[in-house]
This record gives sequence, C-alpha cells and structure tokens, in this order.
Amino acid sequence: MQTSNKDVAETAGQSIAEGKLALFGGEAAAPAFPAWPQSGPEEEAGLLEVLRSGEWGGYNPVIPELEQKFAARHGARYGIAMANGTLSLAAALQACGIGEDPTDEVIVPSYTFFASASSVLLAGASLRFADIEPVSLTLDPAAVEAAITPRTRAIMPVHFAGHPANLAALQEICRKHNLVLLEDAAQAHGAAFRGKPVGSWGDLSSFSFQASKNMTAGEGGMIVTNNEDLANKVWGLTNQGRKKGGKWYEHYVLGANYRLTGFQGAMLLAQLGRLDAQVNLRQQNAAILDRELRANPQLGLSPIGRTPDATSHAYHIYVSRYNQEALDGLSRERFVEALAAEGVPCSTGYPMVLDDQPVFQTEKLAPRVTTGDVPHSRQAVADVVWFIQRVLLGTEQDTYRLLEVLEKVRRNRGKLKSGN
Ligand SMILES: Cc1ncc(COP(=O)(O)O)c(C=O)c1O
Repeated sequence: MQTSNKDVAETAGQSIAEGKLALFGGEAAAPAFPAWPQSGPEEEAGLLEVLRSGEWGGYNPVIPELEQKFAARHGARYGIAMANGTLSLAAALQACGIGEDPTDEVIVPSYTFFASASSVLLAGASLRFADIEPVSLTLDPAAVEAAITPRTRAIMPVHFAGHPANLAALQEICRKHNLVLLEDAAQAHGAAFRGKPVGSWGDLSSFSFQASKNMTAGEGGMIVTNNEDLANKVWGLTNQGRKKGGKWYEHYVLGANYRLTGFQGAMLLAQLGRLDAQVNLRQQNAAILDRELRANPQLGLSPIGRTPDATSHAYHIYVSRYNQEALDGLSRERFVEALAAEGVPCSTGYPMVLDDQPVFQTEKLAPRVTTGDVPHSRQAVADVVWFIQRVLLGTEQDTYRLLEVLEKVRRNRGKLKSGN
C-alpha cells in the first residue's frame, strides 16, 4: 500500500485527525500495537523441558546450544551467556586486562544508556566520553581519534537504537593504535554493517536480553567473540574463576557467578527463531515511516534515517528529530505527551548526556571520568523523539494509522499549546 502525502492528509481528514485529542477526553486513535515481550508455544515447551530436566541453572545444555546459535547468527565462533548486558561489558574489559590499572581509559559515546559507561568503572578502568555522528547517533570516529591518549586501551561503540556504529572506521583506528574494540550491541540483535553482522567486528561484543530488548528473557546478556583465549577468560570470570574443563573447587581468577539460567536459555532459543522475521518487519515499517515523514514535514518529525553502511538496522528504537517550528512552537514534551495519550509508545529519550550524570560528578568517581565537548550528543538530548520497537511490529496499516495520529496532533497544536 503506497500512500501519498495527500492520502495521508485526506484519510486523516475523514476520520482520525478530526477527533478530539485523548489528552482532552477524546478517543485514543493509535492502533493496538503488538505487546512486548512476545512468547508462544516454543517458549512454553522450552521452559517445561528445563523444568523437568532438574538442571535449572547455568549448566543446563540449553545454554551451550544458545551460545553457539546466537554467536553463529552474529558471525562469531564463541558465545558466553551471562546474567545481563552490564556485567558482560565489564567482564569483556576485564578479560582484556583493562581496569587492572585504574588509569586505563575506555572511550564511550556520550549519548547512550548509563550501563555502557558504568561498566567501564565497574571493571576498574577510567572513562573518556566522545561525541556521536549526527546521522546515525553512534560514536563518531573523528571524535574518537581526537580523544585517544597514551592511556587509551579500548573503544566501545554503541549500536544505538539498533543502528550499527561505523565499525570499519573504528576497527581501523583500533588497529592503528593497538586498542581493543568492544561493541556494545545491547540494542542491536540482528543488525549488520556492510553486510557483516554486528558482533563479528569487535574483539568482543556484548548483547543484552533485558526486558525491553529485541530478544529477551526478562534479563540476560551475552558476549560473542572469535578469539578463543578471550572467550575462555570471559567464561572463567562468569564461572567463579574456574577453568573450562578444570576442577569445580579450583579458582584461577577473581570471577563471580554471572551465569544465565537454563530457563532464560530456553526462552532465548525460542526467540532467536523469530529474530530475523521481526528484524525484517521492523525494517519494512520503518521504511514507510522514513518515506512518509520526509514527504510530510508538516507532521513535525524528521527521521534520523540510516547510513548506507547500515545494511541491517535492528530498530530497537525508531528515532526522529522533532521540529518545533513545524508545529508552531509546540514543545517536544507536550507533543510526546499528546502522542502517548493517543496510545503511541514514545518518549523524548535520554534526558541528559552521560557526561552530566550526577554519579560521574561525585568525588569518588569524577577523577576517573573525562567529559567532552559533545554538541551532537547534546543536540540529540534536545530534539529526538523515540518510538519503541513494538511500534514497528504492527501491520502496514498500523504504520499508516500512526501517521494519521501525528496529523491529529498537528491539527490540535494550537489547543495543545494553550492547554485545553
Ligand atoms: C546500550 C546499552 N548497553 C548496555 C545495557 C545494559 O544491559 P542490561 O540491562 O542487560 O544490563 C543496555 C540496556 O539496558 C543498553 O541499552
């Protein structure tokens, strides 16, 4: 179904857009987007199997099966399932010996979730923030080059919203300066850069299976790598410092129990089976939004889009920039409030750049944090609107209806501004 600008306006004119805003007591106009998380008979059968096996913990055979299949899907030989995607980042750094000296530095983007940065400090190392590119909202290789010091040990690109970072350029920088490349792919299951999956570019890559993520077991994480030595080290850190094939009560490094349970492993195996179909569906609906939002600038959102190198985008979040002028000065917060009331799962995203987070200003941590000049990250904080991933799991009609909801909000911009 191809809809022209005119059709969007006309359909909206006949129905939804003329309605009273839900915020003012009208009927919510958004479609019932699919719920998240999703599960089916595959999860139920897997959970029952683990339950009946009596092996509920991290040594259930479903775990190595998941590790192998998930790693293979992301172009890597080894996978280590873990309790979450924060500890996995910290363990990945520790496996490389980063943080043994607290002056070891890791470069992290300023516009990302807190855990990308906190994991560096949890590993014992120091943080240096760098800015993002304005198109992909991922780590800018030029900013990274400028941030490198003699203390730099690793670079952590984040595939924010599911858009792969510029992995070719960052890999080249890491080669040139002999640095570890650690991909934070917490939001990017199934994404690819120049046709090669995220997870296969870094020395190590980290995924999250926390409740909001595109694959979830409520909680969970995974490190994937093609380096056997690093895989064994992460495994040891995850398993109380044991050696693979070694004795149960012999401990060689200061590890802990970071294991994923068998129940979570079974859930994730089931979800891996749906990953490709869901990635494709999100990409199809995102393409409609990209095209229609560009053709209808009066709706007030312009998609950040994707770079040609982002050959697969996981769309953990659909990100666009809000143009306040297009809606006659209506604030972004009020715009999002109206959309949310209509039933669109949306937000204004991260409320500040990580450089400004209170915890990094404390006496204890501030000496280990170097903030940066990060205008693109600050701009993203100020002007983006996020639609969360389940918005893209509906039908084509749902996506067109979302555009009509935007038209409804646009038509009511005056009332929204005056508040009645
Ligand atoms: C970019 C990023 N990195 C790391 C994490 C941490 O993952 P977890 O919540 O599984 O610890 C998340 C999400 O929570 C994330 O969005």
